[in-house]
Amino acid sequence: MAALGKLADKIRPLDAFSKTLDEIRIQTFSGGIVTILCTVLMLLLFLSELNHYQTLKVTETLFVDVSRSGKLRINLDVTFYKISCGFLNVDVMDSSGERLSSIEKTITKHKTDMLGNLAQEEPTEVVRVGHTTVGLNGTCGSCYGAENAQRKCCNSCEDIISAYMEMGWALRSTEDFEQCKREFKEKHISINKEGCRLTGYVEVNKIQGNLHIAPGSTFGGSGMHSHVHNLIPFEAKDVNTTHLVHHYSYGVPYPGRIDPMDNMMAVAGEGAMMFSYYTKIVPTMYASVHNFTTRTFQYSLTTHKKSLARSGTLEKGLPGLFVYYELSPIMVKMEEEYRSTMHFLTSVCAIVGGLFTVAGIVDGMIYRGGKVIRKFHQG
Ligand SMILES: *[C@@H]1O[C@H](CO)[C@@H](O)[C@H](O)[C@H]1NC(C)=O
Repeated sequence: MAALGKLADKIRPLDAFSKTLDEIRIQTFSGGIVTILCTVLMLLLFLSELNHYQTLKVTETLFVDVSRSGKLRINLDVTFYKISCGFLNVDVMDSSGERLSSIEKTITKHKTDMLGNLAQEEPTEVVRVGHTTVGLNGTCGSCYGAENAQRKCCNSCEDIISAYMEMGWALRSTEDFEQCKREFKEKHISINKEGCRLTGYVEVNKIQGNLHIAPGSTFGGSGMHSHVHNLIPFEAKDVNTTHLVHHYSYGVPYPGRIDPMDNMMAVAGEGAMMFSYYTKIVPTMYASVHNFTTRTFQYSLTTHKKSLARSGTLEKGLPGLFVYYELSPIMVKMEEEYRSTMHFLTSVCAIVGGLFTVAGIVDGMIYRGGKVIRKFHQG
């Protein structure tokens, strides 16, 4: 017992928090106010710190993407207000010359009115301009001189164009071909009378390329800059390519991703507008705290639009929506982490201690200031 008393005697001088006697403390009104304010402020700061502590910290690191293969998935959801589904075609062309035209399977087209409201019916069956395989009444349609051993009949507009391409012949216009005229006539009725919403996804090679949604069929050779024939059975200036991109992204989403094309409205002030979206894709790896990693993509965007109607010819492009994509060699890795508890505790101590000190100074100033003023009045 005595030893303990001795130890206490030794420790007592170490007290950094020496107390003043209660008798010489006074409590003032201003002190009370400062204490209340101080407590409220402390609570607010503590809550904001707690809130911050509960969020996840995401750190980003950059490195060269060495993953070799894999596909790039393009998700899209676009409404065209003035072009009917029968006319709209989705095509993807990449720099290897591969052209994907069977992608209609993963993209559904829904008929809408001109305000973009979905029509009350099943998604319209996918029709490509020029895809009837049987000729009129089962006859064999002429290929207008482009017949060859494999292709004896051309029963659709697309057949004729393919035949011309096989022969390597230039194709100026499709107006002279009966098959084309017939097909266009069947569909012509719906220009500027209804709209179309396209939703779905496309899987493409992980190389540079472009995706376009344009009225009519397109036929291109290999390469990005190949000449594209378009089959538009009406005057280009009548094509109104006004559209709304509800959503456009690459890969699967991760928390906090921003897709810059989302909810972008493009109004065609003139006929035959070509809207180009240039996207630079950044491969992204997102590691969540729950131990799973998502491999996906984000992108940056620049846009451009031009009217093709003024130049009189459509050779320099197609009216419609073009998305050019290009992959960055740099990959971003985003890693979620919990915030450090020690750091949180340190912050809380700093808040409590700091506020007490500051409040003490403020209170002291008020107290002393009050005294000086009182003295001044008396004197
Ligand atoms: C195309 O349609 C949009 C929306 O209805 C309209 O604002 C625009 O003026 C039209 N453009 C032309 C060239 O008619």
